[in-house]
Amino acid sequence: MRFRAVFLASLSAATVTAQKAPTLEWLARDVQRVESVREVKDLTRTFSHLAQFGRWGEIAALFADNGVVRVGNITADTVLATGPTVVESWLRADNEDMDGLKTGSLSTFLADQPVVTLSPDGLTAKGRWLVLRLQGTGSGGTRIQGGVFENEYTNIGGRWKISLLHYYPQFDGNYAEGWGNTGTGLRSLPIIPYHYTPDSVGIPILLPSNAANPPSTKATAQELAARISRLNDEDEVRNLQHAYGFYVDRRMWTDATDLFTSDATITADGSRFNGTTRQYLEQMGPENLSQGILNDHNLFDTIVHIDPSGREATTRGIELAMLGNTQTRAATWEFSVFLNRFTKDPSTGIWKISALSTTHLLIANYSSGWGHGGISPLKTPPSPPRFLPISRSAPSPSPSNTSIPSLSSLSLSLSRSAAYDSSESISSAYGYFADDIRCQFFADLHHSAGHKLSPGTGYYLTPARIAQACLSRYSTFDPNPQRPRVPFHWRPQPVAIVSQDGKSVTYRARLLQWGTSNETRGGFNGVSGFNAGVYHDQMVIENINGTERWKLWSLTIDEFYWQSVSWKEGWAAADPRPPSNVTTPSGLAKDYPPDLLLTDEAFGEREVGMDGGKPPNMRWPDLKRMWWGFRNPVSGRAPESYSPGCVPCVARPKWGLEVNGYQEPPTGPSLVKAVREGTSLKVSVSAGPGESVSGKVLVRQEGTGRVVAEGMIKEGGSVSLELGAEGNGLKLVAEFDGSERLKPGQTKVSL
Ligand SMILES: *[C@@H]1O[C@H](CO)[C@@H](O)[C@H](O)[C@H]1NC(C)=O
Ligand SMILES: *[C@@H]1O[C@H](CO)[C@@H](O)[C@H](O)[C@H]1NC(C)=O
Ligand SMILES: *[C@@H]1O[C@H](CO)[C@@H](O)[C@H](O)[C@H]1NC(C)=O
Ligand SMILES: *[C@@H]1O[C@H](CO)[C@@H](O)[C@H](O)[C@H]1NC(C)=O
Ligand SMILES: *[C@@H]1O[C@H](CO)[C@@H](O)[C@H](O)[C@H]1NC(C)=O
Ligand SMILES: *[C@@H]1O[C@H](CO)[C@@H](O)[C@H](O)[C@H]1NC(C)=O
Ligand SMILES: *[C@@H]1O[C@H](CO)[C@@H](O)[C@H](O)[C@H]1NC(C)=O
Ligand SMILES: *[C@@H]1O[C@H](CO)[C@@H](O)[C@H](O)[C@H]1NC(C)=O
Repeated sequence: MRFRAVFLASLSAATVTAQKAPTLEWLARDVQRVESVREVKDLTRTFSHLAQFGRWGEIAALFADNGVVRVGNITADTVLATGPTVVESWLRADNEDMDGLKTGSLSTFLADQPVVTLSPDGLTAKGRWLVLRLQGTGSGGTRIQGGVFENEYTNIGGRWKISLLHYYPQFDGNYAEGWGNTGTGLRSLPIIPYHYTPDSVGIPILLPSNAANPPSTKATAQELAARISRLNDEDEVRNLQHAYGFYVDRRMWTDATDLFTSDATITADGSRFNGTTRQYLEQMGPENLSQGILNDHNLFDTIVHIDPSGREATTRGIELAMLGNTQTRAATWEFSVFLNRFTKDPSTGIWKISALSTTHLLIANYSSGWGHGGISPLKTPPSPPRFLPISRSAPSPSPSNTSIPSLSSLSLSLSRSAAYDSSESISSAYGYFADDIRCQFFADLHHSAGHKLSPGTGYYLTPARIAQACLSRYSTFDPNPQRPRVPFHWRPQPVAIVSQDGKSVTYRARLLQWGTSNETRGGFNGVSGFNAGVYHDQMVIENINGTERWKLWSLTIDEFYWQSVSWKEGWAAADPRPPSNVTTPSGLAKDYPPDLLLTDEAFGEREVGMDGGKPPNMRWPDLKRMWWGFRNPVSGRAPESYSPGCVPCVARPKWGLEVNGYQEPPTGPSLVKAVREGTSLKVSVSAGPGESVSGKVLVRQEGTGRVVAEGMIKEGGSVSLELGAEGNGLKLVAEFDGSERLKPGQTKVSL
């Protein structure tokens, strides 16, 4: 009852926004803005890709001529290098023999979880990244380091360059002892200033319609259409790559296999695998995990490149696998590069994996570590899989005879890609505010009617209650404290599914957690070594008194799927414990009761086994059930543990997006089938369980685009369209227009 007013307010806010019709100039500027945000990210990801192979000269070339490297803390800052030549020498000296080139050496310089903010004029950008460096000399030396980048970027003649690499180290150490807070005396850590506020991080990338007049443009609508569809394709391919990774973690071989073309090729360390995709995957183990098996393959710094044709794509990134078996106590690290190919199915337009290629750099036994080059050191380190370009080269425009969508429809498609990046910024900003326990800041990232899970307890509704729950747990809000310890909440590997209107997103991310402290090496109390979980979030655009901001609508963490016993013993040392049949209410639940407890009956199965959920309480090496908010992106299969929409909506349907005036993003592809029946064509569309299909179907002649028949799907998911005699011999495309809940889909059929 208490929140009714808030719901009504948000309902009207979401329907108020009326966009002015875009002009070509306006659209050209906005396409450039989204491409810029992505190039800035790819530039920094390329830094990480190149670092694995000691390509210091090429990294230096990512810098502007007057680009600067600064390393320091908030009180004392040192400029270490200015200009590419000096940057290169600095990198060479800093990494010494841990360059990935000397036999057995390891050079991992991960930077992920970007908050990239573009200036209003689109010519400069700032980016915050979480950094983790795992290095080894091959002859025993190791280094573990990390912290935060608060970088600056500049666009010089159409190319993005790093103008400032500002590295704030926060922890360092080595493999044998683990790490602790940076600096002598294990001092406390200050908060590293953010280049954004909870409000500014939500500013949409596309400028509002009352922004200054955009510059004139030479781009044609046709070129912009091709660039926008490439951005949309990047989102599909990135989601597919990351979903594949999540399926691999749980050895969901049926789902993983669905993602591949039937003639997909698999290459591992340069040799072509002679067998099926399924056989390849089963080399990791049989389908599904059993107790005590860890198969996590964390994917970082994924760059997606769409070929100019728009029909093929490549992904490249860094895979850090953490593998183990608590029964045998075996545990390993695997450092590799993935370089995968994707193809757009010519009939359905759905992307699939057509070639998987993995190059291992180093495989190490957990107990002995990576300092000696791993289990079977390679005599010569592998040559780098090819690097992907950063700049988006001009795509081939679609044939001049195909119809170009209207500018409004192009603008809508572009807003979906902008939403992808905005949701990543909100996700990352949440991660940094959580690391720093900035209660009020992460509360303010939420929508005025948004909700958040406080781990092990329940959901709090509205920013004020989210902040209070955090404060009652952590007691103070000092805006700039020195902290003795930091728990890092890394949220890589997003699968972000954007609604048809570009105003809401369903977002899955990994939680990879570690910590640093002034007293314990390799972590601190609750966080020693590494922990893992899964976030299931939703983000929306909120209209706040006429100003649009991206906000968190819903935040859930399912944790922990596994935890290290300690840095020294690792994740495979965990012993099974008898399951507990009682859930002890957390202190927070007593001190400041949530709006919805995780033990609420209305959750049904959803929270059983989760920390704070209904018993039996499960702890690694028991396997918690893993939930999915989306269906298979290729086959549309719904997983067994399927819970679409906001997680607490299972128990509180009124917290759902649709009830509050937003669109619920699609849960998977809309699969279209077209079958000839006499003189008519039966077109059917399938969606997720319980999702009703409605919408327009158009049957066009392939090539000319001439509409041959059209109709509406109302119930039962299919419609019969009369073609008459003229259908014979035609190549047709049956297109489903989509709806508020469903993606468009299509299939080709020859009569
Ligand atoms: C920052 O670094 C300087 C120089 O290394 C050091 O003297 C100072 O104590 C550091 N400050 C903090 C807050 O860590
Ligand atoms: C691949 O496997 C098939 C069937 O298992 C076998 O006949 C063939 O010789 C193999 N090819 C290579 C190159 O190993
Ligand atoms: C793996 O789990 C899924 C979902 O529970 C189930 O359908 C499938 O049969 C399992 N596979 C095996 C080999 O047990
Ligand atoms: C890993 O190290 C442990 C302890 O030294 C040893 O017992 C085990 O055989 C090693 N495993 C591998 C795969 O090298
Ligand atoms: C760690 O930090 C806490 C809190 O600031 C302080 O009480 C403690 O003395 C510090 N420990 C060390 C070893 O510096
Ligand atoms: C919106 O405007 C109203 C009326 O001017 C004001 O009371 C309210 O604080 C504003 N809300 C926000 C979030 O700025
Ligand atoms: C927990 O409940 C299950 C099923 O009711 C029962 O079999 C088991 O013995 C109980 N375990 C404990 C520790 O009470
Ligand atoms: C349109 O262009 C494509 C590719 O150039 C061609 O295959 C097709 O026949 C053309 N259609 C018409 C109606 O000209």
